Amino acid sequence: MDIVNTTPHQSSADKVLPHEATVSAPVNIAVIKYWGKRDAGLILPTNSSLSVTLSQDHLCTRTTVCAAAEFGGDRLWLNGVEEDVTASARLCNVISTARKLRAAVEQADSAAPRLSTWGLHVCSENNFPTAAGLASSASGYAALVSALGTLFKLPQSAAELSRVARVGSGSACRSILGGFVAWQAGVEGDGSDSLAEQVAARAHWPQLQALVLVVSDRKKTVSSTAGMQTTVATSPLFAERVRNVVPRRMAVMRAAIAARDFAAFATLTMQDSNQFHAVCQDTFPPIAYMNDTSHAITNLVHAFNTAVGRVAAAYTYDAGPNAVIFALHDDMRTLVQLLTRCFPRPDSMPAAAFYEDPFAVFASPDL
Ligand code: ADP
Ligand code: DP6
Ligand code: CO
Repeated sequence: MDIVNTTPHQSSADKVLPHEATVSAPVNIAVIKYWGKRDAGLILPTNSSLSVTLSQDHLCTRTTVCAAAEFGGDRLWLNGVEEDVTASARLCNVISTARKLRAAVEQADSAAPRLSTWGLHVCSENNFPTAAGLASSASGYAALVSALGTLFKLPQSAAELSRVARVGSGSACRSILGGFVAWQAGVEGDGSDSLAEQVAARAHWPQLQALVLVVSDRKKTVSSTAGMQTTVATSPLFAERVRNVVPRRMAVMRAAIAARDFAAFATLTMQDSNQFHAVCQDTFPPIAYMNDTSHAITNLVHAFNTAVGRVAAAYTYDAGPNAVIFALHDDMRTLVQLLTRCFPRPDSMPAAAFYEDPFAVFASPDL
């Protein structure tokens, strides 16, 4: 691993041993979507959002951070490729915010090593496609902040750490917490009240399962950051969504989760995904994240619900063509069989995997 190779003092007995922490973080899938910033620097959203944090057993980021006085500067390797840390305002913001919090720890404890003044080497791996609409920025920045929090022994609560993750990628603030998570947009200009809070623990609704359908692992052509910036600047439908639609939906979604009302949860999840993609279509020039396979999956879910005579499944798509399907445990097996039959995978794809607990992953290729 790069960090080990670039840690020359590890073998020198006369020097301080490196301080290192390894943490993994899960992705989260929004059921009320975040799309739009009111402050791009601090990553303050135009609307609140609500998500489900998936199990780390399937899709996750694993990040190691290492601090050493000898490191000349900060370096980061993402999936084995070095990124230019200084060129990324988000990485710099996250690291400098964490360092400030560490400096406070050092001020309170004169014996604490001065990690806040040392260089950092970061090595991060996503075990799923990066920048393909499967929330890699969410698990990626959540893992980075969690690793820095562990390395720096930060006393901050999860809610407070979510604020730090937010300045890396908005959706990352929700991946700091498990279960059902709301990101309150907040009203303060400094972002102090724009953080994530748990709406309900995962154990609140164990029958709810998620199925990830990997339609394409290709990197999206329009990043979430760039896409939402164009939307804010050009879409009249977006303004309507922020003002009149999302606030009501946040309340209805919270109530649906509290009541474990799957039909209400599923209906609103599909409607909000649809409106998010309609807003992308209303952006000028338009942005198309979904592809023909995504639309075919949407149609199949509606056909399934019609056939069983109730809302038994929901789809949602982030900024990419890949689908996440929600269903209750008793319906998921039938759904997986149906999807496997309708979207067969070529031999080159890994075998479809179905995990009983708590969330499932299933891979399907471009058709
Ligand atoms: P996604 O839909 O995967 O979240 P985004 O366009 O929101 O796609 O963000 C993708 C970007 O997030 C990547 O190009 C990279 O800059 C950043 N990112 C992804 N994974 C990580 C990671 N593990 N560590 C740091 N940054 C990451
Ligand atoms: C469609 O959090 O990736 O997934 O804050 O610019 O990094 P930045 O964007 P990002 O946007 C996520 C958009 C979404 C919906 C959601 O996760 O709420
Ligand atoms: Co993202």
